[in-house]
Amino acid sequence: MKIVRTIMEMKAAADEAGAGGAKIGLVPTMGFLHEGHLSLVRECRKRTDVTVVSIFVNPIQFGPKEDFRTYPRDFDRDAALLEREEVDIVFCPEAEEMFPSGYKTCVEVRDLQDRLCGRSRPGHFRGVCTVVLKLFNIVRPDVAFFGWKDAQQVLILKKMAMDLDLAVRIEGLPLLRDEDGVALSSRNSYLNPDERKAARTLTESLGEARMMVEHGEKDARLIIDRMKARIEKERLARIDYIEIVDERELLPAERIEGGVLVALAVFIGKTRLIDNIRI
Ligand code: PAJ
Repeated sequence: MKIVRTIMEMKAAADEAGAGGAKIGLVPTMGFLHEGHLSLVRECRKRTDVTVVSIFVNPIQFGPKEDFRTYPRDFDRDAALLEREEVDIVFCPEAEEMFPSGYKTCVEVRDLQDRLCGRSRPGHFRGVCTVVLKLFNIVRPDVAFFGWKDAQQVLILKKMAMDLDLAVRIEGLPLLRDEDGVALSSRNSYLNPDERKAARTLTESLGEARMMVEHGEKDARLIIDRMKARIEKERLARIDYIEIVDERELLPAERIEGGVLVALAVFIGKTRLIDNIRI
């Protein structure tokens, strides 16, 4: 496994790896890897010839009051996990390498970036799109793999790729959960045991939403109200948003018709967790 820290070296490694028509796959991450990340890596290994994993805690997708500085990092552990998965190349640049002083360019996917998580995290998706487009230009992957855990991120990146005629195919892969049903997330490491138990209320409320739809409920408001009531019973939980939206515009759906995304963000103590189901 090759560990690459500079853009120049990464470009050269990708050129070399892709020579002769080998298919390159990219899995962008911010590290502190868990099984959710590794499921993307395994799928990439299966579907492409060369697997590149990036580890970069991207400063420009964090707000000024968010957890950039305290975001969990453990490069040695991540590298060992990726080595075991037989990853070909790990790209782990320093912040200064990706965004040197004087850096000025950003990419925005208008409207979509302002909805759901975008409302409470202004600038977040601009930071995500910008870093991901940079990674695409550096690695030049044929396919890039993202998890539906971050459903809005997948939809926005697909839109960016389409609007900008990017050659890369964006693949969204299933959200993985832990044994207690809680969606795997690097931020789960912030939770103490009581908070971890409280985090189950997210999963449970989504389960209730699915059950209601399966029993024929079509009124989105009713479903959201029921989810809210359940989460509000948990004293450690504070709802940021619960929404049922269409997957094209991410605008509220009044009726459950066709495919919808049921998405939520909830603070458990100080930790903001997101989760969703697609129906
Ligand atoms: P990060 O949160 O590290 O996640 C990296 C990838 O792993 C994302 O595509 C995310 O959706 C996926 N992932 C996380 N938890 C998952 C789970 N439980 N099941 C399946 N997939 C999961 O998302 C980011 O990093 C960043 O925004 C990034 C795209 C790297 C840009 O900086």
